[in-house]
Amino acid sequence: MARILITSALPYINGIKHLGNLVGSQLPADLYARYMRQRGHEVMFICATDEHGTPAELAAAKTGEGVAEYCARMHDVQADLANGFRLSFDHYGRSSSARNHAITQHLAEKLAENGLIHEVSEKQVYSNADGRFLPDRYIEGTCPNCGYDRARGDQCENCTKQLDPTDLIDPRSAISGSTDLEVRETKHLYLRQSVLKDKIDAWIDSQDGWPVLTTSIAKKWLHDGDGLQDRGITRDLNWGIPVTKGGATWPGMEGKVFYVWFDAPIEYIAATAEWADAHGKSDADWERWWRTDKGADDVRYVQFMGKDNVPFHTLSFPATLMGSGEPWKLVDYIKSFNYLNYDGGQFSTSQGRGVFMDQALEILPADYWRWWLLSHAPENSDSEFTWENFQASVNKDLADVLGNFVSRVTKFCRSKFGEAVPEGGENGPQETALIDELSTRIRAYEGHMEAMEVRKAASELRAIWVAGNEYLQSAAPWSTFKEDPDRAAAQVRLALNLIRIYAVLSRPFIPDAADTLMAAMQTGDDSWPDDVATALTALPAGHAFTVPDVTFRKIADEEREAWEAQFAGTRS
Ligand code: MF3
Ligand code: ZN
Repeated sequence: MARILITSALPYINGIKHLGNLVGSQLPADLYARYMRQRGHEVMFICATDEHGTPAELAAAKTGEGVAEYCARMHDVQADLANGFRLSFDHYGRSSSARNHAITQHLAEKLAENGLIHEVSEKQVYSNADGRFLPDRYIEGTCPNCGYDRARGDQCENCTKQLDPTDLIDPRSAISGSTDLEVRETKHLYLRQSVLKDKIDAWIDSQDGWPVLTTSIAKKWLHDGDGLQDRGITRDLNWGIPVTKGGATWPGMEGKVFYVWFDAPIEYIAATAEWADAHGKSDADWERWWRTDKGADDVRYVQFMGKDNVPFHTLSFPATLMGSGEPWKLVDYIKSFNYLNYDGGQFSTSQGRGVFMDQALEILPADYWRWWLLSHAPENSDSEFTWENFQASVNKDLADVLGNFVSRVTKFCRSKFGEAVPEGGENGPQETALIDELSTRIRAYEGHMEAMEVRKAASELRAIWVAGNEYLQSAAPWSTFKEDPDRAAAQVRLALNLIRIYAVLSRPFIPDAADTLMAAMQTGDDSWPDDVATALTALPAGHAFTVPDVTFRKIADEEREAWEAQFAGTRS
């Protein structure tokens, strides 16, 4: 049994996330967490809302709430939706927590003690038309690296380069569009990432089998141009974590807070501390996940995120932890994702384009979405959501293959043998062949799940469902029953046991359906099918079951068309 720490990139607090956000971090992280728990490992699965920064301030200003009030409300909204999608976080924290304030301030002090923080007199962009300093996300312009003309002041979405606002060519205010900008002088703290460049580079080189998507982005920013740059870690905002030294305001940092990207990843740690607090546990209980001097040296730490988050997790956050000189646990594996597109374009929060988490759950239960999203996860390239593809996958995989198998077996048994596992007969060559196939496929499924190959795992699971269906089709107990009821009994007994196995194997993908199937089979035996032949005897002759309600319904063409139309525009 291993100890596995799993974090998902923290969703921004401002607004409800779309399905592209969901499949880029939280959902695959949940798949992995559920699988690892089922295999008996000790899992700590952490997420939180990312609550600081200008977007939160501006969103609150729009609703007329105070920013703290806004964040508290939106945290609850996002937590409810996470529950709705059955995301099985051990803790869903808040980056505005007291724990995060304390740990962030602590780490900054350690970095300063180690000479890794510089005070820099900085030129900052002031917008005369807007009457305010423009934080980096509210300045747009042309990327100096790739020429993309809608790069933001913190990062270019197109080439992922981390930017400072003054790097942009032809900058304009994202609030008013005004180009009447001037640069004013102000003091900020900088993290001297450049000093840590070789250390980070060697650390990345020492990692085994990281996805190319992850290492290529990290290597690019380590080596392209002048290499890893120092980063400003403070901002002129009211909302955020105050910059302190020895418990008092850091001289010269009055009215400033830490940059949201400095404190957000630290919330992974803080949220684990929040977990301890919420469960009446001690500091030692969270530190054993995060401090290698306190037990975390045998933890395997895996992070999930979209590709735009990779620079912060391969460079900035490790720089913070390494630079502290303290024995913090560093990530062991970074699983990163490309983008999911929506129907010929991009999902877009700012434009309200695509399907958002709340809307998705209003249409269909979580399992339908979980299955489609995970089986189409944008792993090796961007992938695309279309309603047609969604309908086809649901109808075929979930309704025709899995749902139909369950319904045929249970209904046939009820009509011929009653609602209990039938007695008599034994396995023949056909059953042996099925057992062999399932054994091979289940081992392959385990391999893909361990490797976080989400799509491959989904297609192996689908193949496992198909194998059962094909067996049932060719064994045809409804025919054998006429001449040889004992043989039909053996076939049905196997098939009923297969339902339990399907519930166990499928749970990481479709947890609600797994519950329904387990309840129908009236069993709490969720043991993993290490040995398929043995697993097929878990429900013995005489074991009572019930016929479940429809596990998965089909999506009709008219429904699909209606949704297509409903989501064609943008959400206000
Ligand atoms: N909120 C960021 C985003 O949505 C992700 C933050 S991940 C963290 O892109 F680790 F830094 F918190
Ligand atoms: Zn660019």
